[in-house]
Amino acid sequence: MRALVIDRADRTRAQLCGFLRNRGYEVAVADTGEEGKRLTKEFVPTVAFVAQHLPDMGGDLLIPPLTSQDAGTRVMILAEAVELDKAVHAMKHGAEYYFAKPLDFDHVGMILDGVEALQHSSRENELSRRLDRRKSSRTPTIGESPQIIKVQRLIKLLSQNPTTPVLIMGESGSGKELVARSIHELSLVSGPLVEINCASLSEALLESELFGHEKGAFTDAKVQKKGLFEIAAGGTIFFDELGEMPLTIQAKLLKVLDTHLFRRVGGTTDIRSSARFMAATNRDLPLLVREGKFREDLYYRINVLPIKLPSLRDRGNDILLLADHYVRLLGDSMGRGYMRLAPPVEDMLLAYRWPGNVRELRNVVERALILAGNGPIAPEHLPSEIRGIPSVGKSGGENTRLLPLWQVEEEHIRQVLHATNDNHSRTAAILGISRSTLLAKLKRMAQVP
Ligand SMILES: Nc1ncnc2c1ncn2[C@@H]1O[C@H](COP(=O)(O)OP(=O)(O)OP(=O)(O)O)[C@@H](O)[C@H]1O
Ligand SMILES: [Mg+2]
Repeated sequence: MRALVIDRADRTRAQLCGFLRNRGYEVAVADTGEEGKRLTKEFVPTVAFVAQHLPDMGGDLLIPPLTSQDAGTRVMILAEAVELDKAVHAMKHGAEYYFAKPLDFDHVGMILDGVEALQHSSRENELSRRLDRRKSSRTPTIGESPQIIKVQRLIKLLSQNPTTPVLIMGESGSGKELVARSIHELSLVSGPLVEINCASLSEALLESELFGHEKGAFTDAKVQKKGLFEIAAGGTIFFDELGEMPLTIQAKLLKVLDTHLFRRVGGTTDIRSSARFMAATNRDLPLLVREGKFREDLYYRINVLPIKLPSLRDRGNDILLLADHYVRLLGDSMGRGYMRLAPPVEDMLLAYRWPGNVRELRNVVERALILAGNGPIAPEHLPSEIRGIPSVGKSGGENTRLLPLWQVEEEHIRQVLHATNDNHSRTAAILGISRSTLLAKLKRMAQVP
């Protein structure tokens, strides 16, 4: 392994070179950008640490020559202080990571762990693995709207920077989990994706679930248990419904993100975490921050390159692309021939608001295929609300009240619950949301006086 350090001669450079040599690296140094370029060609480093400001040029100008090498040097930018916009800029242009001085060598070591793990598998291996992953990635994010193209670009960018935290925001059913899985599968990481739903566990359980526990840590702890952070080593730990995470656990999570260390419940030794952080939420995190329900520091720590998934109703023609995709996919699995949707059906799909987003669309297509039998899908195979027959609230007359969205949502949830005799699974299916999302909504509704 060869490391090239391009920075002025200061204490940090000396410390960094010492650290790298101790780790077994062959180290070369350059004081200027020009010298760095020359060494890039001659020395072909595995990894390069490049100062953000060099006497003769900006460090980011060195990213293209370094990364375009056949060896594909991994570039780390060294900054005098954290400047988020500069970090994002550097990473967008191909830098692997961005470190602020003074360097935290535990952190540097962890990032190098990842680089080294990749180097172990040969380049060819890497390529074929990448292709396999692409193939195995079950559904691509379908869509051609500018909003979805932006999402697809971010998926690619984040999969090329496998240590950057990932935050995915979007309404229920808009594809947050699909995006998380795509990023994981496209990243060249060796470990698994481990998912935890923050709404589904109590505070005490959540902690031992995440960090594991030692034997005897509490009454039920009969044996030592590994937590999800350990199980996700070298892979991804995905926090679904992050907005529901209790504040005490948020504090612990922030500590792991900052130090990359954690302890099992009842444990006394630090364990190093090498899992990538991903999270999804359908809540408005900035609002939760203002309300004091979500830690501001944690929010800023994970909000590096956030992905905001557009609602389906804002994706224009993508609605038809997705409908067509499901007609083919589900039609195939039912042994039907493919049939284009009739224009009036398309118009109704385009005009509808899709509160349950893509999941709701999938359910609507599935239902319509069943009702249509072997014939084409016609308007009468669509649910009444899509055909434009109002089901929530009474319209017309003097009593028409204009309600805020949350109230309509709550009323509608109550109606559906009533109609299903309080059956949560059926209610969730009808609403086009996951059962855990429904439970979270009910929990919130119960809190409102
Ligand atoms: N752009 C897309 N292309 C293809 N399929 C999609 C797309 N977006 C979402 N889906 C599909 O829609 C369904 C719902 O997506 P997903 O479970 O990722 O949503 P979610 O945002 O995590 O929902 P929730 O908030 O309820 O957990 C899945 O079957 C997923 O494969
Ligand atoms: Mg989800």
